[in-house]
Amino acid sequence: MTKAIRINGDALSWEDCEPISEVPEGHVAIDIAWTAVNRADLMQRAGVYPPPPGASDILGLEASGVVSRVGKGVTDFKPGDAVCALLTGGGYASEVVVPAVQVLPVPKGYSLEQAAAIPEVFATAWLNLYHEAQLKPGEKVLVHAAASGLGTAVIQLATALGNPVFATAGNEDKLEICKRLGASGFWNRSNGSFVEAVTQWGGVDMILDPVGGSYIAEDQKVLNVDGRLVLIGLLGGRMAEVDLGLMLVKRQRLIGSTLRSRTVVDKGEVMAALYQHVWPLLSARQIEPVIDRSWPIQEAEAAMAYVAENKNIGKVLLKVT
Ligand SMILES: NC(=O)c1ccc[n+]([C@@H]2O[C@H](COP(=O)([O-])OP(=O)(O)OC[C@H]3O[C@@H](n4cnc5c(N)ncnc54)[C@H](OP(=O)(O)O)[C@@H]3O)[C@@H](O)[C@H]2O)c1
Repeated sequence: MTKAIRINGDALSWEDCEPISEVPEGHVAIDIAWTAVNRADLMQRAGVYPPPPGASDILGLEASGVVSRVGKGVTDFKPGDAVCALLTGGGYASEVVVPAVQVLPVPKGYSLEQAAAIPEVFATAWLNLYHEAQLKPGEKVLVHAAASGLGTAVIQLATALGNPVFATAGNEDKLEICKRLGASGFWNRSNGSFVEAVTQWGGVDMILDPVGGSYIAEDQKVLNVDGRLVLIGLLGGRMAEVDLGLMLVKRQRLIGSTLRSRTVVDKGEVMAALYQHVWPLLSARQIEPVIDRSWPIQEAEAAMAYVAENKNIGKVLLKVT
């Protein structure tokens, strides 16, 4: 029996749903073992981040599990393979169908539990640091919400690839973890503006900003000449003041970026790049997903509340089977 988390008013429930009948060409069906809570799930549940057209309306942007069936033309996977996948939706369920290009084998030496914490954050980190911002070795990065699931992946990946990281987060415990993961500059956002601290650190060449709002004007002040400001979220609001003078004179670039709404081809390219550049680092344990804690999928409500309260350091997982 296929099951999924359904949103019934304010409540979440683990309910029977329509099983997958046919696996389309180029797709893979996965029996899900683990999925993860992303900030985007909270926004989707609140009705402010609807799934893109054609995507499942079930929450969940990533999963790990075992391949149950493959569609015509799929040669990279077979039933029984342990995999993890980047999803456009549908992770809070017992099974999912996903384009094969969005699926990767579980990295060598990893459990299905650990593998569920990898796809969304490492795909987002790779896409924005090395595709959108085209970071070169030695260029410096400012990461806001650096102890988040995403932030903990970004710090490790950037550090491993030779890009020093300045981390901002909401308390000292979080900053301590950022330090252990490789960050070399720190700011506790509960102490006010980060501008002076980042300036003293020497400024940055790229900013990964999930906050927006009033952060944009401050970001601009610490962004070096030819710097790239990649906006990936609106935790601090959608309206911002931009200093066009600074933007012009310092040749700053403001880039908006979302992973979920990209085409299957684009997502496939990101996953192929992960397999080539990030999987070897994971297998060598040079980098690892940071997992805070997990709940059974039936208790998704508690897991989402924990994330909503900004308590997590790294990823929060949901155990499905
Ligand atoms: N565009 C994309 O493709 C994409 C993909 C993945 C993630 N994202 C975005 O990246 C962010 C991190 O994702 P995640 O799932 O890893 O999140 P997460 O683990 O839920 O962490 C989010 C963190 O953001 C910080 N925060 C919350 N409200 C804030 C505010 N008003 N100002 C400053 N910081 C605030 C909190 O940490 P502190 O209290 O420690 O600051 C919170 O723990 C989210 O905004 C998410 O939507 C975007």
